[in-house]
This record gives sequence, structure tokens and C-alpha cells, in this order.
Amino acid sequence: MPAAADTDRNTGEAAVTPPPAGVTDSTVPAPILRVNNIEVVYSHVILVLKGVSLSVPKGGIVALLGANGAGKTTTLKAISNLLHAERGEVTKGSILFEGEEVHSRSPSDLVTRGCIQVMEGRRCFAHLTVEENLLTGAFTRKDGKAAVAADLDLVYSYFPRIKERRKALAGYTSGGEQQMTAVGRALMSRPKMILLDEPSMGLAPQIVEEIFEIVKNLNGKEGVSFLLAEQNTNMALKYASYGYILENGRVVMDGEAKSLRENEDVKEFYLGVAEGKRKSFRDVKHYKRRKRWLA
Ligand SMILES: Nc1ncnc2c1ncn2[C@@H]1O[C@H](COP(=O)(O)OP(=O)(O)O)[C@@H](O)[C@H]1O
Ligand SMILES: [Mg+2]
Repeated sequence: MPAAADTDRNTGEAAVTPPPAGVTDSTVPAPILRVNNIEVVYSHVILVLKGVSLSVPKGGIVALLGANGAGKTTTLKAISNLLHAERGEVTKGSILFEGEEVHSRSPSDLVTRGCIQVMEGRRCFAHLTVEENLLTGAFTRKDGKAAVAADLDLVYSYFPRIKERRKALAGYTSGGEQQMTAVGRALMSRPKMILLDEPSMGLAPQIVEEIFEIVKNLNGKEGVSFLLAEQNTNMALKYASYGYILENGRVVMDGEAKSLRENEDVKEFYLGVAEGKRKSFRDVKHYKRRKRWLA
């Protein structure tokens, strides 16, 4: 078979060449978020992220995976510009939300532009009702009460469980209901992208699944993009299309969710399963098998 270039020369058709660097292919959607090689330092001396890069396509669900302390929350806070409150700082690299640097924007400005974070541990206002919590999410909006009321109905349509609980004080609702309230509150700002930090933490598998199903629905029907930080690799890779694995402030592996799920190392170190049999956590912890990506 002749080489492609010959074929083109023979037929006289224009050769299919990749676009030059910097020119985006119109068939590939531009990413809504791009993190380029960022470094984050806390208190001027503690280097936590050591060159993290990732991207989230418009309308995508991307998982940011890693054990406790890997740097997931730090990455999300760098994106939503919330590090200052923690004495943290991005000292290298850049973060672009819809092509614009985030560091010059305040967190509330970023919310207005469509990028919002749902904090680890839900952080609902315990002394407010579920509905009051949801309404606090609309504080950056200036489009009037009717629009906000319509969005409240929209949130309840996705989360019928919290509609039933709307008059209850958030502090008296279950962990799952609080997580739903936290995501619902984020939705009230009409986001284009939600940075969701460990929604599964401390919840029963069935509730986790219920929440991830809602994430999937919001992504499919409302077009909200998600960057999902999770320790629950198994569940996250069921719903995300792409994943990054963070270890010690570095991305050690990334790929399509399907290929990560099938990767032997990921299975062993993050899914606790290898070659068809379940490994005990102790085996995994003792690193009996060397991680190939660290070799
Ligand atoms: N405010 C802070 N000051 C100093 N170190 C911090 C601070 N917040 C987090 N860290 C450290 O940064 C590392 C990454 O933490 P974090 O981003 O919370 O990880 P993850 O969300 O993956 O569990 C950890 O070693 C943690 O101890
Ligand atoms: Mg965290």
C-alpha cells in the first residue's frame, strides 16, 4: 500500500496535515480548563504541587485521583483561586479557565464566570435550612428572583430527595443529603464547570452511586463540565471519561477512564484487584509489586 503522502500526490488531493502548533482543530472542542505545569507552595516553604498539568474538555467529566495527601484539594483550590486563605500560592505555571488566567480573578468573580468549587466535607450551613443553603448559592447572580426561583425548581428536579427535606435544618440531614445540598447550592450559581472535591467521602456506596448518577445527568442535560477529585477510583472512573492520578504532588499517570480501569498497576494500587483476585490492602500498601511508572 502506498504511503499516505504518495496517495495525496497521486490523486492531487490536499494532504491531511495536522494543524500547526497553536492552531486548534475545529473538530476538537477547546478545553474549558487547562492547568499548565503548576507548582504550589504553602507558607512560602512547603512545596506541595510539583508541576501538575491537566485539562478538562468542555462538557467533559474528568477525574483527579489519588490517595489522601496527594494534592487533589490543593489543585482544586489553585483553580478556584482559594489558596490565599490557606497561605498557599501558585509559584509556577498557569491556569486558564475558558482561555483566561484565573489568578487575576477573585474567587467570586470566577463563580460569576461559571467556575465553582464544591468543598470537601460539603460545608453546609448547619443552622440554615436546606433551601436557605441552596439560596446562598445564588448570591453572585443579578438576574432577579424569578430566575433564581426557576433554578431552585431545577435543582429540586435533579435532587428530589432534598426537595422533601427543604425545610429541614441542614445540620440535621444525612451526609448524602448534605452532599446533594452542596452540589445543588453550586448549581444555583449557574456554573459551566464544577470542581467537586471528594463527594463520596464517608458515604455509603449506594448514596455515592446516587450522587454520581446525578453528576452524570447534570453533565449530559445541563452541559456542566466536572473536575472530580476522588479517592474512590473505582466509582470515579465509572463516570469520568478521562483520569489523572496524582501522587505526592505529581501526575504519575493519565489516560482514558477505560484504559486506566484496565491498567494492571491501577487495578493493583488503586482498585485493590489484580489478575482476577482481590488483594489485601496490606499487600498493596507494602508495594510488593513495583509501580512501573515510578521505576
Ligand atoms: N494549608 C496548608 N499548609 C501546609 N500544608 C498543607 C496545607 N494544606 C494541605 N497541605 C499539605 O499538602 C499536601 C496535599 O494536601 P491536599 O491537597 O489536601 O491533598 P488531598 O486533597 O489529595 O488529600 C498534604 O501533604 C497536606 O498536608
Ligand atoms: Mg482533599
